[in-house]
Amino acid sequence: MLCRIRPALTRFVSESSPFRRPYVQQPALTALILPCSSCFQQRYCHHSNKRKMSSHGPAKRLDGQKTSVWTEFVKLSSETKAINLGQGFPDFAAPDHVKKALIDVATSSNPLLFQYTRGFGHPRMVNAIAALYGKLMGREIDPMEEMLVTVGAYQSLFSTFMSLIGPGDEVIIIEPFFDCYEPMVMMAEGTPRFIALKPKNDNPESADDFQLDPEELAGLFNEKTKAIVVNTPNNPLGKVYKRRELEMIADLCKKHDVLCISDEVYEFMIYSGHEHIRMATLPDMWERTLTICSAGKIFSVTGFKLGWAIGPTNLMDCLKTVGQNCSYTSPTPLQEAVAHCLELELSRLGQPDCYLTSLAKELEVKRDKLAGLLRDIGLSPIMPQGSYFMLANVSHLDLDLSDSGDGPRDYKIVRWITRNLGVATIPCSAFYCEEHRAFGEKYIRFCFIKEDSTIEKAAEKLRKWKDAV
Ligand SMILES: Cc1ncc(COP(=O)(O)O)c(C=O)c1O
Repeated sequence: MLCRIRPALTRFVSESSPFRRPYVQQPALTALILPCSSCFQQRYCHHSNKRKMSSHGPAKRLDGQKTSVWTEFVKLSSETKAINLGQGFPDFAAPDHVKKALIDVATSSNPLLFQYTRGFGHPRMVNAIAALYGKLMGREIDPMEEMLVTVGAYQSLFSTFMSLIGPGDEVIIIEPFFDCYEPMVMMAEGTPRFIALKPKNDNPESADDFQLDPEELAGLFNEKTKAIVVNTPNNPLGKVYKRRELEMIADLCKKHDVLCISDEVYEFMIYSGHEHIRMATLPDMWERTLTICSAGKIFSVTGFKLGWAIGPTNLMDCLKTVGQNCSYTSPTPLQEAVAHCLELELSRLGQPDCYLTSLAKELEVKRDKLAGLLRDIGLSPIMPQGSYFMLANVSHLDLDLSDSGDGPRDYKIVRWITRNLGVATIPCSAFYCEEHRAFGEKYIRFCFIKEDSTIEKAAEKLRKWKDAV
């Protein structure tokens, strides 16, 4: 007897693709196979249990897509049971008020909090965002028109690229960049154009030492340029752009009628002496800026995967079209809980117990602790001004990397440190395009939104190694 497979499950990718495994793995598939005597494909047969690949390959929009850095290094970290200073998530409990908000929602007598809500954003959530950001941006924001709530900031970025970028459009990406921008631009069939922030000298000590060359940037703008992506505070560098730097970018956007995709997910993690400037608040930039935010980052609950985009109605209408045809809506209970939290933060804005500022204070202590530790063991940290990442220069390390796989040197170093010292980090060259990898190869990225004890344990391992060499 032959087998017929539901059509949605027949989407496999070819051997030449980076995604060599089928989207759905064998055990899940066999459960869904329907017996049929008139099968014409025979891709899977639950009797013989033999797997045959379909002849279908990836759509053209997946051309050039590679496996992301997270696939390898998250796996390596968990396989080696290393102390994870790699991936950007807190290892401490969610804040009490966030847990309470979730409990209140879970025990609410309102049955609708467990059902689909408004597609573009749960009403209480968009109202809370509009109230808070109205204050932060100094303008009235229409909660129904000028906002889209998504599955993480990630989906806001995806909706932005998919709805506004098309074949022939160029998108300027500033390096180092959060690694999903490039593949998303490519999936939208646009062309990424890269420009690296360059250190002022050979031994940069602060994220501020990395600067954009205004002339080089101006040279990238042309009639095909559709958008520029700005990420402040920047992941992985921790650079918080100064007003004059953002104004320089804004002037070019206005001169060339270019959009600005402003990824501000670390907007509240700003350290002493620095200020977060929202691109959309610069003169005449609201009209051309999409601001991307993340509840996961704001409230130290990355597992919530709830984010939003804010911008003018004409642009938001485009994002909403992708949103409604992608996830349609985001989880109602999480939106209700985050709405509670945003309302609370708005009510205590500027006070010491406001989580938006108290978290940054806690993180600053962790930042300084990690920087001290890295200096102690001879790695030069680049002091971040914001975010919860820190780059450290590892170019001088004399290690035997012969068993550390292929690829750029920082990839090998991260593998070596993870396997031999039990501390997981992320290679910095992953945040550069292929041609510019050398800019990032000197550095590895540490994440410090971790328990003090986690940082201490990592310190112990690194110090022991340092003492032994
Ligand atoms: C710069 C930047 N943008 C966007 C995201 C995605 O945020 P979310 O987890 O809300 O999807 C991240 C996550 O690490 C990030 O670092």
